[in-house]
Amino acid sequence: MPKIERHFFVCDNARPVGGKPSCGAGGSGEILSALQEGLGRHPELWGRIAVTPSGCLGPCFEGPTVVVYPEAVWYVGVTLADVPEIVERHMRDGLPVTRLVRREE
Ligand code: FES
Repeated sequence: MPKIERHFFVCDNARPVGGKPSCGAGGSGEILSALQEGLGRHPELWGRIAVTPSGCLGPCFEGPTVVVYPEAVWYVGVTLADVPEIVERHMRDGLPVTRLVRREE
């Protein structure tokens, strides 16, 4: 089995409308699907890159949230429009999309 080199975790937690925000309510399901489709278009990455839904990752007010390991890059405020850049730049080329990286306070 090939070694996983990079793992994208997409928060897919959904909460009821009107309460604390959640990535699910912000469209993370579509983002997850788009990342998986993006990986699907790069067979050279199959077995080396993983895209997995996750529960709440913590920064709910800034979501949708994606975290990428092993480098522990946190993306927040991700939209569907950002996915092609994440796929081509980070998933394929290994370079984080810096404009989406969460800023530490
Ligand atoms: S609901 Fe996504 S980070 Fe909490």
